[in-house]
Amino acid sequence: MKKWGKLSLGMLIAVGLMTGCGTNNNDDNKNAASNGNAGSETAAKTLTLGTSAEFPPYEFHKMIDGKDTIVGFDIEIAKDIAADMGAELVIRDLPFDSLLNELSSGRVDIVISGLSYTPKRAEAVGLSDVYFKAEQAVVVREADKDKFATMDALKNTKIGIQTGSIQEEIAKEIEGAKLTSLTKMTEIVMQLQSNRVDASIMEGPVAESFVKNVKGLVITDAKPVVEDDGYVIGVKKGNKELLDQVNTTLKRLTADGKIEEYVSAASDLSISK
Ligand code: ARG
Repeated sequence: MKKWGKLSLGMLIAVGLMTGCGTNNNDDNKNAASNGNAGSETAAKTLTLGTSAEFPPYEFHKMIDGKDTIVGFDIEIAKDIAADMGAELVIRDLPFDSLLNELSSGRVDIVISGLSYTPKRAEAVGLSDVYFKAEQAVVVREADKDKFATMDALKNTKIGIQTGSIQEEIAKEIEGAKLTSLTKMTEIVMQLQSNRVDASIMEGPVAESFVKNVKGLVITDAKPVVEDDGYVIGVKKGNKELLDQVNTTLKRLTADGKIEEYVSAASDLSISK
C-alpha cells in the first residue's frame, strides 16, 4: 500500500482512524507527561512538546520503518531545542485548541504546532521570535476552482476550519459564511470531499500538502488577508529561561539555514508515496 499517496475518501477515513482519532490515548511517550512533572528538575531532564500532529508538513504522522512516527519541520525544531538543553524530547499529540491550556497548566513545556502569533495568545502564554512565515490559502473541490477565485466569492458559503485557529477568525469575517469548526484538518478535508462544506482556509504549506495527497481538491486564487502570519513557539507565561533557550536555538537554526532545510524535507516527506 502506498503510504501517503492519492487518498480516496475511504482511505482518508482509515488514515484518520489509524493516526489521529485517538489523540487522547495516543501520546507517543507518556512517562514524563502523565504524572504532571513536565519541566521537573528532579527526574532525568525532559522537554515535553505539545503539538497537534494532523498538520503536514508542520507535524504529522507517518509510517517510518513500519512504525507510526510523528514527523514534520516543527518536530525537527523541537528536537534541536531539546538537544541544546541536553533534554530528552517527549511528544504529546493533542487537539490544537487544547494546547495553550496544557501549556498554562504545566502539562507540556512548549507548544510548537504551526502556532501563529496573535496579541491574544501573547497575553496568555510566552511566545518566541517568529521562526517561519507562510501565506493563507483557500481549498475547494476541483470543479469549484473558478467559482471561488476571490474572497468575495466565499460570502454565504459553507466553510470548514480548525477549532481555535486563526483561520476560524478569518472565516468569521466573511459575510454570511456558515462555519463548521472541526478539531482536525483531516476531518475538514473529508467534509470538503463529501460536499458538507464548500471551502476551507488553511496555511499555504498545509493546503499544498493536502491537495497533492487527496484527489479532487485544489487551491484557488482567493487570497485571505491576515495581519500577522508568523509562527512562534509557546512556553508557559513567565518561563523566561526556557523562552531564552528557545530563541537562542531558533537564532542558530535560522542563521544556519536549517529551518528552510527542515521545511523542504518535511514537505517532501508529506507528499512522498
Ligand atoms: N496557524 C494557525 C493558528 O495558529 C493554525 C495552526 C494549526 N496547527 C495545527 N497543528 N493543527 O491558529
